[in-house]
Amino acid sequence: MRTPAHLLRQFNGPCTGHDFRQYVRLPFGSGGGGTCGSTVRRMLITLDGLTKRFGATVAVDGLDLEVRPGRVTGFLGPNGAGKSTTLRMILGLDRPTSGRALLDGRPYSAYEFPLRKVGALLEAKGVHPGRTGRSHLRAMARSNAIPAVRVDEVLAQAGLTGVAAKRAGTWSLGMGQRLGIAGALLGDPPVLILDEPVNGLDPDGVRWIRGLMRELAGQGRTVLVSSHLLSEMQVTADHLIVIGNGRLLADAPLDRILAGHASLEDAYYALTEGSALR
Ligand SMILES: Nc1ncnc2c1ncn2[C@@H]1O[C@H](COP(=O)(O)OP(=O)(O)OP(=O)(O)O)[C@@H](O)[C@H]1O
Ligand SMILES: [Mg+2]
Repeated sequence: MRTPAHLLRQFNGPCTGHDFRQYVRLPFGSGGGGTCGSTVRRMLITLDGLTKRFGATVAVDGLDLEVRPGRVTGFLGPNGAGKSTTLRMILGLDRPTSGRALLDGRPYSAYEFPLRKVGALLEAKGVHPGRTGRSHLRAMARSNAIPAVRVDEVLAQAGLTGVAAKRAGTWSLGMGQRLGIAGALLGDPPVLILDEPVNGLDPDGVRWIRGLMRELAGQGRTVLVSSHLLSEMQVTADHLIVIGNGRLLADAPLDRILAGHASLEDAYYALTEGSALR
């Protein structure tokens, strides 16, 4: 089934290399939203008293913060600090016990085609092992009225063109991770949420994701990325949010967090002392 033109018109642009005009048939600069050369729509993530309890465990404890567009925000904290739970609540996958997580003032569930607003890579992939990478992405594209041509573009961008026809169950950890990142890019979204994206990637992949995050932020997108690789975060992030035991420990530009410390690792230990798992 072809995607109706009025839906394509909402598609958020080609600035990953794709010429959107062939879908919308709008002249350049006509103000149609999303034409190549226009800036990406900037979206803010707001956490407002965000709290999640699992029984007696307080996984996320009253987070109040904003994640802004145009920069890479690193999301740090020890194992069990509440990073993934926070990201899952932003994505509507876990329901907050109290408080809210909003994207431009609205919850994730309020968006009709959320993959075009927020691209996400989470720990659990949810790819059926019998599906090929290409068919998985095609299904995702269809469900969000994203032009099918985007599938091959993001496969190429993730270095997966040669293996796109292999079943996901046979893929290596790093290939699966690249497929997840390709899925996050599919809707050309203004917000990217990546939970430990370098996990399992080879050195080439680590360098690729570093460059990609910088590029996406440079285009005005909101990039929120959790990671335990502090040396990598030190060269990738502009801004850091650090949590421990579900509580905010720091929300500041990288250079402010680094001030007075020899490395991000030193700064991180000073901040998280006492909140790591024992
Ligand atoms: N579905 C769940 N049921 C019960 N407890 C949970 C559930 N999900 C997370 N938790 C608990 O919530 C806390 C936060 O977990 P979360 O996965 O958000 O941490 P994290 O910061 O992502 O850790 P890591 O760095 O290990 O990925 C932990 O104590 C965890 O055991
Ligand atoms: Mg996690």
